[in-house]
Amino acid sequence: SQVDIDASAYDAGDHESYMHKEMLEQPTTAQAVLRGRLDDRFGTAHLGGLHMDARDLRAVRRVKILGCGSAYYVGQMGAALIEELARIPADAEAASEFRYRDPVIEPDTLYVAVSQSGETIDTLLAVQEVRRKGGRCVGLVNVVGSAIARECDGGIYLHAGPEVAVASTKALTNMFLGFALLALQLGRVRDLSIADGKRLVAGLEKLPGQIEEILAGEADLVEVARDLAEARSLFFIGRVRGFPVAREGAQKFKEISYRHAEAYQTSELKHGPLALIDPEVPTVALVPRDELTERNIGALHEIDARKGPLVVVTHADVDLGEVGARRIDVPRNEPELDPILLTIPLQLLAYHAAQHLGHDIDKPRNLAKSVTVE
Ligand code: G6P
Repeated sequence: SQVDIDASAYDAGDHESYMHKEMLEQPTTAQAVLRGRLDDRFGTAHLGGLHMDARDLRAVRRVKILGCGSAYYVGQMGAALIEELARIPADAEAASEFRYRDPVIEPDTLYVAVSQSGETIDTLLAVQEVRRKGGRCVGLVNVVGSAIARECDGGIYLHAGPEVAVASTKALTNMFLGFALLALQLGRVRDLSIADGKRLVAGLEKLPGQIEEILAGEADLVEVARDLAEARSLFFIGRVRGFPVAREGAQKFKEISYRHAEAYQTSELKHGPLALIDPEVPTVALVPRDELTERNIGALHEIDARKGPLVVVTHADVDLGEVGARRIDVPRNEPELDPILLTIPLQLLAYHAAQHLGHDIDKPRNLAKSVTVE
């Protein structure tokens, strides 16, 4: 069954759709999730809603993130952040699969349920499975007082405001920021240095303005999006930090343009799907400035040599050499925070592809904003 959000209390104003309005709200809504939670002085975050003191946070030996759809993919971004900043093993799993494999629930694992609506039944049942077996579960939830929020031991509200479009944009961005705050606090009660903590606090403070900069470049992406919309099938590729971004980008594209889009690790391309690359199959590649940039560019050469059209989301100071590609440059921040900056142009691409194809962007066929029965 499906729940249709009552949009009457909230209208799209001058925007042609809620998705468009919600994308453009991101610089403001991103500030809302950070407000009052950053501590410049100690380079950390304060998350009172977790109901966990420093000792409880120190006792966490593993983090398991549970969510569905976009919340699952942003959970993968969050797991990478936590593992990197706090050096605690962390991973994300589709909440819809979790309880069916009779999972081992450990007392020193922190379970994190991620959900915009807070009503997704698969995620709710995963939370109940954790708590029934004595595990501690916190929520990253947008809707205050929702079922998942009530069921959790504590959490971080996302403060993105109402989200009506099925394709999540501003809530997803705030999920990422929520994970960044959690990773920072978990890191700073462990070995993350105060200098690194301050560097990340400063990076987080810069993010809303950088998101605004990317959104201001919307007009430049319309033509690229239209060309992608014409393809019957496309790839989204990325590595390590970029891979969950590729998964989320492919998900958005599928959800609203109804085109087949597949996410792949850039490193795995040569182990299979390279066979599919030809002038008819475009690839959107995520190439941030990091320790893998040169290797990523190597893979772009492989695609280019097969005349696969390329769109590269990267930074202005990355030199793609001889590769023939249309590039989308996003501002630079701290490398750990890149995933969210790489995600924003993919929202715009999916949006303008769907618009070009004349689809109902806010209510894509066969999908619901919130899936509340199994
Ligand atoms: C549905 C929507 C997806 C969404 C997922 C999780 O399947 O179609 O766009 O990502 O639910 O929703 P939630 O409210 O739990 O974040």
